[in-house]
Amino acid sequence: MKNAIEMTKDIFWIGVNDFETDLFESIWPLPEGVSYNAYLIRDQKNTLLDTVKKGFMPQFLQKIQHALGENESIHYLVINHMEPDHSGCITVLRDLYPDMEIVCNSRTVEFIKGFYGIDSGLKVIADGDQLDLGAHKLEFHLTPMVHWPETMMTLETTTGTLFSMDAFGGFGALWGGVFDDEVDLDSRENETLRYYANIVAKYSPMVQRALKKLDGLDIHVVAPTHGPVYRSRPEYIIQRYDRWSRQEAEAGVVIAYSSMYGHTQTMVEAVARSLIDQGVRSIRVHNLSRSHLSFVLRDIWRFKGLMLAGSAYNTKPSPSMESLLSILDNDQLKNRLLGIFGTFSWSGGAVSAIREFAEKPGNELLNPVVEARNAPGDADLSACRQLGRAMAERLL
Ligand code: FEO
Repeated sequence: MKNAIEMTKDIFWIGVNDFETDLFESIWPLPEGVSYNAYLIRDQKNTLLDTVKKGFMPQFLQKIQHALGENESIHYLVINHMEPDHSGCITVLRDLYPDMEIVCNSRTVEFIKGFYGIDSGLKVIADGDQLDLGAHKLEFHLTPMVHWPETMMTLETTTGTLFSMDAFGGFGALWGGVFDDEVDLDSRENETLRYYANIVAKYSPMVQRALKKLDGLDIHVVAPTHGPVYRSRPEYIIQRYDRWSRQEAEAGVVIAYSSMYGHTQTMVEAVARSLIDQGVRSIRVHNLSRSHLSFVLRDIWRFKGLMLAGSAYNTKPSPSMESLLSILDNDQLKNRLLGIFGTFSWSGGAVSAIREFAEKPGNELLNPVVEARNAPGDADLSACRQLGRAMAERLL
């Protein structure tokens, strides 16, 4: 999309689409791309809300110039979030618009100096401060740790447009449609949830705190820095972020496993068959040697049941299982029903490590825990079926 897109009178979407980056944060795959959204309010004081990733400056500038009148300048740049996917064009904008004031909070100051060497021309605001642009009014709401310490949201109060930075965002580029009523939200939901599970999940308690803070504000449009702008159904994304950050999950089971020679996989099949026999239909099986953790985490964040299965590898779980356990521990996964099983041949180490994770407070570990020696025998497979039944009974 070459031009700025007007959202309401004199408020423009001036974001860009990234179809080229393979890994977001150099970690998370982007098979459907991602958008970096920024916004411009044209008023007596022309105001930019965030920028885009460095490298997209030509497209970004084209949109700024399209939205602005001839010979108009930028008066304010509001920085809601300093992560470089949004702050990457600050220095170029500074050069182009030397009189532009950068509006930010006190936590932003250290980042903007550290990343870009900027320590002048800053207008430092506090929580609840307001800024008059002319016809439009901005109100600033600090929401630390959603996703960095300096993160804040800006509400344009005359239209009720909430510039929410990463909160309420999602993966997936915007293919022509920018607004929620122009895109198929259901088909985008997987990528929105994957963004939440990969980027935001660790900060779920802070998302809850931010949602409480936003409660009572007159919000008509949610304009995040990634994914669609919600102008018709802002509640669609607010409700999902509320549910995901409370770790409310759906009735279904993820089986995440690592298996070197197929013995643990045989147990996976026995557990999955037992779940099917008991009427569970939402089952996602991930071989951790094949599925990128990004997608495994997405499904774990969706479903209440989680089976973790591994074979011992040099006295430990496989590296892929260790990575998964480490992320889940760091994200403080809770409210889940956990089943664990696996194999060993001499010293063990996989099931015990998974068990250590599973016994931490917050989740419910189901019985039996099944650990087969060498290859699973009839008794082991029977115990796997029993575990499947236990999961189904608690889930359905
Ligand atoms: Fe999209 Fe936390 O940056």
